[in-house]
Amino acid sequence: SQTDNLYLTQTDNDRKRRLPQAIIIGVKKGGTRALLEFLRVHPDVKATGPEPHFFDKHYHKGLDWYRSLMPETMRNQITIEKTPSYFITKEVPERIFQMSNSTKLVLVVRDPVTRAISDYTQILSKHGKSKSFQSSAFLRNDTTKINISWIVIRIGLYVKHLENWLSVFPLKQIHIVHGENLVTNPGEEVRKVQKFLGLEPVITDKHFFFNERRGFPCIKKKLKHKRGHCLDESKGRPHPRLPESVMSALRRFYRPYNEQFYRMTNIDFNWT
Ligand code: A3P
Repeated sequence: SQTDNLYLTQTDNDRKRRLPQAIIIGVKKGGTRALLEFLRVHPDVKATGPEPHFFDKHYHKGLDWYRSLMPETMRNQITIEKTPSYFITKEVPERIFQMSNSTKLVLVVRDPVTRAISDYTQILSKHGKSKSFQSSAFLRNDTTKINISWIVIRIGLYVKHLENWLSVFPLKQIHIVHGENLVTNPGEEVRKVQKFLGLEPVITDKHFFFNERRGFPCIKKKLKHKRGHCLDESKGRPHPRLPESVMSALRRFYRPYNEQFYRMTNIDFNWT
């Protein structure tokens, strides 16, 4: 009928590419892909596949270029992207603020010690034989002298990076996801993110099942489905075992920064 047509045209007109209302800003190896893949199951969420790297690498291309990367959405849906390098890039908070001061920011954090080893494991997998973790992490092979200019170490200084964001955005505009809890209790972490994004709590515990072989949760796109979607093998790699002296040196190094980070966020992440 005519009203049906009218309805169709209107909704069709509403379908377009929009700038993201929410951004997963990091942290690299925190579980950012898992979070995005989980959120994507929500009917009111549309996300980019690859990382756009707009606010760090391609900013000169302008907002229209950025918008062109986004999926088409209806008015009631939210557009979301993730680029973990945003978290550590000085210029990014101000640039996002310029786009929209109401952008919702989501940060996934994980124990900076395991994060560093995860990052290093990724480097090994990409470059084959590489320098040892120790030779990059410590100056002159001295475990009391941490090389904070090594990016793998530097990314884990969460309090330093967050400080930079808080000079632009209020803390309540940054939702922090507990990376370890995202593995052990994905339903709970995703429920909190849905709430923060103003979404109906569509994704529940029932959507997740634990894959014993992988050692990670996977998600069902529809509850009625028998099978679900697990991340690919590049997520959840086995880590090399580092000597206990290296582990304790890293823990000792990060501890004061972690404690400052807990105070800054009012969350005790309970890292060792
Ligand atoms: P590891 O490969 O070191 O285990 P990112 O997507 O930000 O690069 O983070 C990768 C990390 O996400 C993985 O690091 C893994 O620990 C974590 N992760 C969290 N939930 C996961 C899931 N459901 N499946 C696979 N990896 C998950």
